[in-house]
Amino acid sequence: MKICLLGTGYVGLVSAVCFAELGHRVVGVDIDNKKIKKLKEGISPIYEPGLEEMLQKNLKSGRLTFTDNISEGIEGAKVVFNAVGTPPDEQRRVDLRYVREVAKQVGEELTDYLVFVNKSTVPVGTAEEVKRIINENLSSGAEFDVASNPEFLREGSAVEDFMNPDRIIIGVDSKKAEETLRELYKPITKKGFKLMVTDIKSAELIKYASNAFLAAKVTFINEVANLCDEVGADVREVAKGMGLDKRIGDRFLEAGPGYGGSCFPKDVDEFIRTSSDYGIEIRVLEAVSKANRFQRSVVLQKLKKHLPEIANKKVAVWGLAFKPDTDDIRESSAIEIVKRLIEKGAKVRCYDPIAMENAKEELKNKKNSITFVSKKEEALKGADALILMTQWEEFKDFTPKEIRKHLNIVIDTRNIWERKEFEEEGITYEGMGR
Ligand SMILES: NC(=O)c1ccc[n+]([C@@H]2O[C@H](COP(=O)([O-])OP(=O)(O)OC[C@H]3O[C@@H](n4cnc5c(N)ncnc54)[C@H](O)[C@@H]3O)[C@@H](O)[C@H]2O)c1
Repeated sequence: MKICLLGTGYVGLVSAVCFAELGHRVVGVDIDNKKIKKLKEGISPIYEPGLEEMLQKNLKSGRLTFTDNISEGIEGAKVVFNAVGTPPDEQRRVDLRYVREVAKQVGEELTDYLVFVNKSTVPVGTAEEVKRIINENLSSGAEFDVASNPEFLREGSAVEDFMNPDRIIIGVDSKKAEETLRELYKPITKKGFKLMVTDIKSAELIKYASNAFLAAKVTFINEVANLCDEVGADVREVAKGMGLDKRIGDRFLEAGPGYGGSCFPKDVDEFIRTSSDYGIEIRVLEAVSKANRFQRSVVLQKLKKHLPEIANKKVAVWGLAFKPDTDDIRESSAIEIVKRLIEKGAKVRCYDPIAMENAKEELKNKKNSITFVSKKEEALKGADALILMTQWEEFKDFTPKEIRKHLNIVIDTRNIWERKEFEEEGITYEGMGR
């Protein structure tokens, strides 16, 4: 089947490459010429394990092509995915301008039946709006359907998640759209992975409700961790004991510096606001959002306990990506902590194995207070304390002995190390909830 992906960011590119790997003919379209140029050369603009190899393989096979010309992309396509960004605007509402733009363009270019599928995370009711926009701009008499197919991949394991999904959710209002999407996903569903068909609004809500629930789970264990700190319990033990209950499960029960990334913060905020548009107050999520913001101050309080005067102190920060195995720093807790340290007058020495270029761009107007270094050991030189923000694999084996050569205060916001080993080296160690 020929399909088209509009937007070749984290979701669009992974989807395009994986659909090609599954045997479909795929055209990836983006307005960013630099991205398209790189992609045509087989270079992935984002870091995602396994992605670049699969990209090159499918370019070579001819099943995967890229263009900045939307007409080329949708010509002959049976399915056109909207995978453009939906970032938060200044009021932290989802900015739908890119979605509206692609809907308009598809309306103008459409000549044959196709299914326009929202893969981007969009508030309930957006499919209806998209349908109206396509209709208003339709120059041919061609028929089309609009569907919702929210994406659940996780950055850092996106290819794996796309190929082996917990579930595929399809929101449709026509049999023809359902059949087309079932056929598209057949290479995955025939391996036994679940595909659930529902109405469009329910599909739109499944995405928000899922992310909001996971954000709440993370926040819950963070708040339990704060109590553990006070009473002298170990949150890892508490989480393990809770997780043995199948109704609870052990995933997303790792205490840390608060959730970040391009999805949870914006999706929680939008879910609250969408609900409020309909006169529904989701109080639990208001608390989640507030508690998550507070969690960043918990990290700084831990530092302040041992370094009361942060101004003019040097602080090493390990990890800038919002989680390991990605170069994505959008709404990363690490970036937020770096900014707050600088506001308090600290000099920060940063290291991240992959996300450094993105971080440099994000923090460029703070460069007088930051030193970016290319080796983790370098960050420790002359520093008064180390804050571990992202649990990259390469940090896990670093020994307290090595750290002790440079400093004696460590804040491990991901609980990757053992307190005892650090204390034996005479290092003041703070974990989260231990
Ligand atoms: N990143 C994730 O882990 C993830 C997971 C699930 C869902 N989502 C959702 O998927 C959507 C995309 O997220 P992302 O992280 O891939 O975003 P992104 O910012 O990485 O990519 C968006 C891409 O769309 C392109 N674009 C914008 N306007 C365009 C147009 N008119 N035509 C063609 N391309 C255009 C941009 O140039 C960019 O390359 C969002 O709604 C997000 O919430 C993201």
